[in-house]
Amino acid sequence: MGTSIMDKRALWAGLVVSLLLQGASAYKLVCYFTSWSQYRQEPGKFTAESIDPFLCSHLIYAFANISNNKITIDDKNATALYQAISSLKTKNPNLKILVSIGGYLFGSEGFHPMADSPNSQSAFIASVISFLRNHDFDGLDVDWIYPDLKDKIRFTALIHELAEAFQKEFANTNKERLLLTAGVAAWRQMIDNSYQIEKLAKDLDFINLLSFDFHGFWERPLVTGHNSPLRKGYRDRGMSSYLNVEYALGYWAHKLMPTEKIIMGIPTYGRSFTLASADTAVGASASGPGAPGPITGSSGILAYYEICQFLQGAKITRLQDQQVPYAVKGNQWVGYDDVESVKNKVQFLKNLNMGGATIWSIDMDDFTGTSCNQGPFPLVQAVKRSLDSL
Ligand SMILES: *[C@@H]1O[C@H](CO)[C@@H](O)[C@H](O)[C@H]1NC(C)=O
Ligand SMILES: *[C@@H]1O[C@H](CO)[C@@H](O)[C@H](O)[C@H]1NC(C)=O
Repeated sequence: MGTSIMDKRALWAGLVVSLLLQGASAYKLVCYFTSWSQYRQEPGKFTAESIDPFLCSHLIYAFANISNNKITIDDKNATALYQAISSLKTKNPNLKILVSIGGYLFGSEGFHPMADSPNSQSAFIASVISFLRNHDFDGLDVDWIYPDLKDKIRFTALIHELAEAFQKEFANTNKERLLLTAGVAAWRQMIDNSYQIEKLAKDLDFINLLSFDFHGFWERPLVTGHNSPLRKGYRDRGMSSYLNVEYALGYWAHKLMPTEKIIMGIPTYGRSFTLASADTAVGASASGPGAPGPITGSSGILAYYEICQFLQGAKITRLQDQQVPYAVKGNQWVGYDDVESVKNKVQFLKNLNMGGATIWSIDMDDFTGTSCNQGPFPLVQAVKRSLDSL
């Protein structure tokens, strides 16, 4: 308001100069990698050594655990992890590496009893700060999946106490302040039940919006649906019209999370179904999850490197309404993201002035480049190029 055209030009020029000086875009590219992917067979075996230190602006290791009110990494191979982390940061001093606590299996229960009393919570927070500093991490990502009504207040309190402790540590040392982020729900009802958004907005550096798993083998009635549609499908009515990335981003923004703190989740995996009939459309009836992938080995989910193999001889359809592809071969159906859909998602988030993209997870991209013939990390690289282009 009231800014003259000259001011705007000066601001714009200043922004361009500062982007050039940083040598990087202002958008964040946040990349989760999982501890369990190091135990996959080749070519799926992924270790911190598989990571290009210039690929992402932020890396997040998933997941740490809580034991006796202290943060721990239970991985047998933790020493190698810590070494790999120092070496990544030596190669790229601007890279930020965070640890995530929680996850689907840990659930909400995993945060109890730590979060139940102020004493155990303070002990946990003190352990987090010394753990992060000892192992050269730059921050903590809290993946409380999901607080829901029961733990809404506890979640806000935990985040607030962590933020205050990080701020205090920053004031008392000459170190950079530790970052505090959270992996958060994308389903409207879970957002309503779980988060006091205006409070969280003050304490969190950014949120990793888990904008995927909108549809999968848990649907009742069991019908095909896309893992991470960008937009509402033309069939979607009522609650179904909330199950897409556009709605989730807009809802967080509407509830007053600043848009630059909202990082759009982009999956490198698809959700698969076994079809129950000759109908292969979205909404076709399914008899169960899709067959497990040869490397990831779980029903109903395929990594991008498995999807590229599946696509040979499959029929690919691009959904014009939801702006994502799905593929069918025999009785197998998979909804996934590819280079085209992720580029489109990045353009979308930039138009809305969101803060960037968060990848779940870089170990499910075709990180070796051997499966898709699109070079190493084709999806993450496509996201990166689209974020960087002005
Ligand atoms: C342990 O981590 C190191 C470094 O990341 C890696 O080279 C090694 O293969 C890992 N070991 C196992 C059993 O995955
Ligand atoms: C996390 O820690 C708890 C308590 O020590 C333990 O029972 C559990 O097995 C750990 N979880 C994992 C995945 O290592």
